[in-house]
Amino acid sequence: DWTMDAYRDEAIRQIREQVGDAKVICGLSGGVDSSVAAVLIHEAIGDQLTCVFVDHGLLRQGEAEEVVTMFRDHYNMQLIHADEQELFLGELDGVSDPETKRKIIGRLFIDVFQKHANEVGGAKFLAQGTLYPDVIESVSFSGGPSVTIKSHHNVGGLPEKMGLKLVEPLRELFKDEVRALGRELGLPDAFIGRHPFPGPGLAIRCPGEITREKLAILRKADAVYIDQIRRHGLYDEIWQAFVAILPVRTVGVMGDGRTYDFACALRAVTSVDGMTADYYPFSHDFLGETATRIINEVPGINRVTYDITSKPPGTIEWE
Ligand code: XMP
Repeated sequence: DWTMDAYRDEAIRQIREQVGDAKVICGLSGGVDSSVAAVLIHEAIGDQLTCVFVDHGLLRQGEAEEVVTMFRDHYNMQLIHADEQELFLGELDGVSDPETKRKIIGRLFIDVFQKHANEVGGAKFLAQGTLYPDVIESVSFSGGPSVTIKSHHNVGGLPEKMGLKLVEPLRELFKDEVRALGRELGLPDAFIGRHPFPGPGLAIRCPGEITREKLAILRKADAVYIDQIRRHGLYDEIWQAFVAILPVRTVGVMGDGRTYDFACALRAVTSVDGMTADYYPFSHDFLGETATRIINEVPGINRVTYDITSKPPGTIEWE
């Protein structure tokens, strides 16, 4: 893509100019935006960049390994893999309120990030994968009261506190342009096309109290569901798809026995920007086959439901 080729070269030039020979740290979530930002900055300044990947114990199956393998082994980036599962899950123990979960995760994320960023020593810049829509969305709409439905966490306020300047090479881009730039930088298509994943991760897909048992079940069910969607060639038609494990056990029958296990809800939506969304009209065959696979392959779940709420009035995530 000619345009993105030129954009990349110009962005690299600007990053070099802004940063000089200083060190840069970057929070890497494994999402498309922070990944593209990290690869771009790495092309510009190499080992002056250190990425911090925080594993809060709320990632999907295989996710931490994927991120570490790709960025450390394939791209040869300096990457700090902060395994802080105990810390996050410990603080979240017994918490069921969605906003309280977000606040705890946001606070710990900043603490952990700061701790590891300090290890880098002498970093002067913080890199973020902020996009143009993020820039506009942070400006409040005129003419109406602003209502916070969900407080998304980011590292806002952190740069000043740490005395860091921001590097935001994607600030002028929309999501589709970031994807094109990612392709230009050689990130694999499968990675670029990944569905968005929220910062609080599986915490907000586990309504009610989060336990390790529920998280383990949720990971397995989610992996089966996504595998089904990929096998049926539907992944790219869907904006986001995931399983939520419900805080209720239901009675079932398997073989000659009674079961008393968790129910789960499948979610899949189409959307342009996440602000509004329609539930995805799967065929009944697909839903039936998926339910059977989840119940057979995931011990701990004996009932599968499909969420047919659009946004509004629902939201995409359950919390
Ligand atoms: P909702 O559930 O509000 O989600 O319809 C809209 C989009 O935002 C994502 N989402 C979050 N992302 N931190 C994030 O980084 C959050 O706390 C959060 N809550 C929702 C959601 O996955 C969807 O893409």
